[in-house]
Amino acid sequence: MRLIKKLLIASAISSLAVTGLAANDLVKKGEKIFMTKKLGNCIACHDVNGKNLDGPGSMGPKLQYLSAWPEQALFDKVYDPYTTNPISQMPAFGKNGWLSDSEIKAVVAYLKTVN
Ligand code: HEC
Repeated sequence: MRLIKKLLIASAISSLAVTGLAANDLVKKGEKIFMTKKLGNCIACHDVNGKNLDGPGSMGPKLQYLSAWPEQALFDKVYDPYTTNPISQMPAFGKNGWLSDSEIKAVVAYLKTVN
């Protein structure tokens, strides 16, 4: 009985660690997409977390406090900014087929870390 309990606790802890790791990998993947010119290249227009690697980054607003946004709102913004802002100068990364849904989800995981 005690052994089973210990095993259960051990497996609960290890699955927590695995989820934590997977979430962290997703954030890293999203950050890479955000920063890389041939992928999202978001950094070309947005300052984020004190970083701007690719020029003035002044076309789009400095990204901050995004951790407060619901994930779906962030997804929609990246998928197609025109739904919330018909005169947006930000391209529709999802609608244009530049980023897949799973790539956008990774970007969203990264955006959720932006304070
Ligand atoms: C060509 C420049 C450009 C690029 C590239 C770009 N954006 Fe934007 N972005 C904008 C502009 C301009 C706005 C403000 C207008 C709006 O909200 O639609 C904006 C707004 C946003 C907002 C809302 C910010 C707020 O505080 O309201 C988010 C989130 C965002 N962009 C994320 C991204 C992500 C993620 C990428 C890369 C996949 C990206 N942007 C690429 C120009 C750009």
